[in-house]
Amino acid sequence: QAAQPATGGKPPSSDTLLLGEVVSLTGAQATFGVSTRNGVDLALNEVNAAGGVKGKKLAVRVLDDQSKPEEAAQAATRLITQDKVLVILGDVASSNSLAMADKAQAAGIPMITPASTNPAVTEKGDFIFRVCFIDPFQGFVMAKFAREHLKVERAAILQDNKSAYSIGLTEVFSQKFKELGGTLLATESYSQGDTDFRAQLTSIKKLKPQAIYVPGYYNDVGIIARQARELGLTVPMMGADGWDSEKLFELAGNALDGSYFSNHYSPANPEPRVQKFIADYKAAYGSVPDALAALGYDAARVAIAAIEKSKDLSGPSIRDAIAQTKDFPGVAGTITLDEKRNAVKSAVILKVGNGTTEFVTTVHP
Ligand code: PHE
Repeated sequence: QAAQPATGGKPPSSDTLLLGEVVSLTGAQATFGVSTRNGVDLALNEVNAAGGVKGKKLAVRVLDDQSKPEEAAQAATRLITQDKVLVILGDVASSNSLAMADKAQAAGIPMITPASTNPAVTEKGDFIFRVCFIDPFQGFVMAKFAREHLKVERAAILQDNKSAYSIGLTEVFSQKFKELGGTLLATESYSQGDTDFRAQLTSIKKLKPQAIYVPGYYNDVGIIARQARELGLTVPMMGADGWDSEKLFELAGNALDGSYFSNHYSPANPEPRVQKFIADYKAAYGSVPDALAALGYDAARVAIAAIEKSKDLSGPSIRDAIAQTKDFPGVAGTITLDEKRNAVKSAVILKVGNGTTEFVTTVHP
C-alpha cells in the first residue's frame, strides 16, 4: 500500500518551488504529524505572504507514512522520483526518518528532520540534517536531573524495543545514571502498540525503584502510566520528547501528575519571537503549539533560507546552504548546525500536572 497523499499538496508549476514533507498523520503517532504540518504550513504561508522566494511561491507536497518506516521510505521515494521536490522535511519518529534518509541520501536530495533525535539519522550521510538536539544529550539531561534534582538513587527503565529512539535513550540514560552514582535496578521492554504492560510493571514494582524512566511515545506511555498506578506503583515517571502530545493527558488522566520529561521547547519562554509564533499559531490553529509545531516551523524556515541562498536549486547546492546554517533564530532555540549536521541546542524539563505541563528548567549543552 502506497503512502497516502495528504493535505497541502499542490502540483508544481513554473512559478512555484516545491518542498516535500513526510509525516505521521494517521497511525500510532498521529499527533506528531498534525502538529508538524501546522508548523510547516505557518512558515510557508508567512514566506508566501511576504512575496515568496526567488520570485516564486512555495508549495509543499505532503505524504502520510501512517507512523510506519516502510511507508516513510516509499513516501520519500515518491517525493524524489515523481514530485521532484527540492528538499524533504520529516519525519518525527526516528525509525521513520532512518528509513527515509537512505532514500534521500542515495538520490542526493537534502532532508531535514524537524524532530528525530536518534544520532544514526544524520549519520546516514551528508544530505541529512536535523534542527533538534540528539539523544546522547537528551538522555544525559534526564539522568542528571534524576540524580541532582529529584535525588533518585534507584531507578528502573521501561523501553520500547521496536523504536530506535527508545533503545538509544535507554542506553544513554543507563550509562549516565550509573556514572552519576545511581543504581539501575532493571530494564524491562515492551513493543510499540502493546496494550498490557502489567507483567513488566509488576517486576519493576518488586524492585522498589524511586523513579522509572519510560522513553517511549505518548500513545504507549499514557497507558503504561495508568496501569502502573492501578498496580500501586506510584513513583514519578521520567520521559523524553516522545511524551509531547495533548493525547498523553487524555490517555493517562492524572496518572502522570508529578512526572517529568525532557523536551525541545516551552511555550512559557518569554522571548518575543517565541511569543509571536505562539500568538500566530493560535490565531491559525486555535491551540498552543507543542514542540513539534515549533520544530516543524523551524525546519521549514531553515529549508527556505537555504533555498533562498542556493545558487542553482540543485540538491548539492541546497545541501551546502543548509550546512552553513548558523545562529538561526528558531522558535525552539537558536540553530547552529555542527559538522555532523546536528543542531546543538538546549533542552527543557517539563513537569506534568492537571492535564498540562509546567516549565521546570533549561539545560544547556
Ligand atoms: N525525538 C523523537 C524521535 O526521534 C520524536 C519526537 C520529537 C517526538 C519531539 C515528540 C516531540 O523519535
